[in-house]
Amino acid sequence: MKLGVCYYPEHWPETDWAHDARMMRAAGLSHVRIGEFAWSRLEPRRGAYDWAWLDKAIDGLSAAGLEVTLGTPTATPPKWLVDAHPDILPLDAHANPRKFGSRRHYCFSSRTYRAETGRIVEALARRYGAHPGVTMWQTDNEYGHHGSDESFSPDAVTAFRVWLEKRYTDILAVNAAWGTVFWSQVYNDFDEIDPPGATVTEANPSHRLDWRRFCSDQMCSYNQLQVDIIRRHSPGRPITHNFIGDFYRLDHRDISRSLDIAAWDSYPIGLLSESQAPTDQKARWLRAGEPDFAAFNHDVFRACAPRWAIMEQQPGPVNWATYNAAPAPGMVRVWTWEAFAHGADFVSYFRWRQAPFAQEQMHAGLLAPDRTPQPVLEEVRRVGRELECITHLQQDRADIAILLDYPSLWQHEIQPQGNRHGPLEPSRIAYGACRRLGLNVDIVFSDTSLDGYKIVLLPSVPVLTEEICSALRSSGALVFATALTGSRTPDGKIPPGLPPGLLAHAFDVRVEQIETLPDFEPVEVLIDEKVLRGERWREMITTGSEVRARFADGKPAWVRNGRFQYAGFWPGEGLMTELIGRLCDEAGLARRDVGRDLRLRRAGDIQFAFNYGPGWQDLRQIGAPPGAAGYLIGGADLAPFDIAAWHCGPEIS
Ligand code: GAL
Repeated sequence: MKLGVCYYPEHWPETDWAHDARMMRAAGLSHVRIGEFAWSRLEPRRGAYDWAWLDKAIDGLSAAGLEVTLGTPTATPPKWLVDAHPDILPLDAHANPRKFGSRRHYCFSSRTYRAETGRIVEALARRYGAHPGVTMWQTDNEYGHHGSDESFSPDAVTAFRVWLEKRYTDILAVNAAWGTVFWSQVYNDFDEIDPPGATVTEANPSHRLDWRRFCSDQMCSYNQLQVDIIRRHSPGRPITHNFIGDFYRLDHRDISRSLDIAAWDSYPIGLLSESQAPTDQKARWLRAGEPDFAAFNHDVFRACAPRWAIMEQQPGPVNWATYNAAPAPGMVRVWTWEAFAHGADFVSYFRWRQAPFAQEQMHAGLLAPDRTPQPVLEEVRRVGRELECITHLQQDRADIAILLDYPSLWQHEIQPQGNRHGPLEPSRIAYGACRRLGLNVDIVFSDTSLDGYKIVLLPSVPVLTEEICSALRSSGALVFATALTGSRTPDGKIPPGLPPGLLAHAFDVRVEQIETLPDFEPVEVLIDEKVLRGERWREMITTGSEVRARFADGKPAWVRNGRFQYAGFWPGEGLMTELIGRLCDEAGLARRDVGRDLRLRRAGDIQFAFNYGPGWQDLRQIGAPPGAAGYLIGGADLAPFDIAAWHCGPEIS
């Protein structure tokens, strides 16, 4: 568990570097990420490399005792390259280029750009692959950000056609998979197929699902190109990429297979302000971020690769959101510890010193533009001191898991059946409900072993594959699914025999129709004589098994067939917590409602408590030690925006 920072030596006079490095060490930081946007300084003109400054920067940082993560600079192709090869620019759906002047202005399918990428990465990896100061590599920066996951360039069109031919072999198979007979969309040849975009009305959903798969695959193969070169020249040094939080256009599990560490960039306040969360939530956590946002992403990336980390942690106000509040004093420390409690290898802050120029001049750093330390630097130092007492945290398998499936997220985007939710919302709500009940949660993917889980949740996961269904059938876990689960085949069609498709037999459920309802028409569900409120989706289901709850009109709402349980509605936040609580009781899992602001995380025999709210929390109420004894950090009275950690027994009592 280490602390680090993102640093841009090329932004500052060389005379500042040694002093910066000393200050970093004094703040308890042990590693620095550099270089990820520096192409025009590394190669000012084609083939004319300027390594001198980077040599000096790396040597200086490592002489000061800092480990260096070196980023490949491919997120920012320089102007001379774009001018010489305009075909590297991505095209939007109307074939307009997305131009030079910011970043991520390249098309993943551009053959020229892949060659140029190979050239610069090779040069960089050759030069620094064996440098003792470079202990880790980062490929590119935030694949897919700013809508860069898709491009409609001629190279992308060709690559998409090749991808389709490989997947289907025969054009008849494409027509069958996509149902192109509908609206006369039949193709005679792969060369006739374009990416789905700029159509008069909704493009074919199966075509769009394959396009999402293709775009994700292009990012994976582009990353692989870089990884192969780095591994050749820098064997044994870990390679990472810094992914975006709450992003679903890239299959993170898939791309992480080529990486040693899956890192992500955590901006809890910025992303809450940009989210679809209701205003009362945005107000409540204005300076803390939504309590489950970071934890959810931690658990996603923890499941992606053997190691995971935070490459960029928000340290103060950002510059890019609708409004940019400063974190409450203490929050940066809370976020940092929440990451470590989830098993992060390191937490690195973005950025060292606020830049007084260009796009991000209003984005805070640990230092002000004039190099004055911001108060947050003291929080970082404090974490550094605390890390001397807690040096290792064990991560055990949780009892409850949530299935996350990227094609299902794409399916939610493509045909949401009512457009009031984002693709990740069902998973996020299920995750939040588990955390509200004080539970550790694992995210699982379709290839994760399900052995040992007591409960597996499928929060509206439309696309089911045989792989995941057979894992669920043989898992022994209580399986709980909500509306829309199994409503699509991997081709994006309604399954034969009706939803939930491959799990229809296991659930003993047949969904004959689904309706979407507005906010003013709640979905009333009668559970044990109590009327509870679901929302949004209501399914007409038939079953021969036990009906655990009915809709107000007496039709089945929640069905149990042995270990398999299906709810033909969307519970929303409140009812989801209630239902998961009941499932825990059935599965013998201890749980307790910890309220909206308190969050727990257990790591081995250390229990953490995090306070995301403005009020004090009495931890005795959740069985924490009453006196000072036993605490590694804090005590039983938990201040606002603060953390506590204590040794606990095998169970929280
Ligand atoms: C991230 C990006 C950084 C910086 C940061 C600002 O998305 O990787 O380079 O732009 O946002 O919040």
